[in-house]
Amino acid sequence: MRVAIGNDHAGYPLRAPLIELIESSGHQVLNFGTDTEHPVDYPRFAAKVAYAIRDGQADLGVVICGTGIGSSIVANKVAGVYCALCNDPYTSRMARSHNNANVIALGARVIGPALAADILKNFLETQPSNEPRHVRRRQQVQQIEAGTELTQE
Ligand code: RB5
Repeated sequence: MRVAIGNDHAGYPLRAPLIELIESSGHQVLNFGTDTEHPVDYPRFAAKVAYAIRDGQADLGVVICGTGIGSSIVANKVAGVYCALCNDPYTSRMARSHNNANVIALGARVIGPALAADILKNFLETQPSNEPRHVRRRQQVQQIEAGTELTQE
């Protein structure tokens, strides 16, 4: 897989160990992050990852900032991007399996490198579930994204 990764200054310390994990798992890395801890604006870096997904340059994305919150908000503004903020491995597995998230957000001021690697490993190794209830719910998300109001049941 082609995995895009982007980080701001706060996310920078987590990037190297995560790139190592991605590459040692046999995937290709597209690096859009800033290369120092000098303060920068997280929207610019999260957006680059989201655009890479939208434009078909990457299959999955990783965005890293201090909390993961700002980056996840930014990524989810781009059509076709479904970003999940995950601080534990169960959530990252479910984000792929149930939600078919294609970007994961991580908070470098919240979790350490070993936990972040476990979280990302689960994300990379889990396939989206084809169970009809999950497919139906993901289609509803896409309808909302397209501006279709969901009928109440
Ligand atoms: C930077 O100080 C911090 O606000 C940013 O990395 C991120 O946590 C935003 O959500």
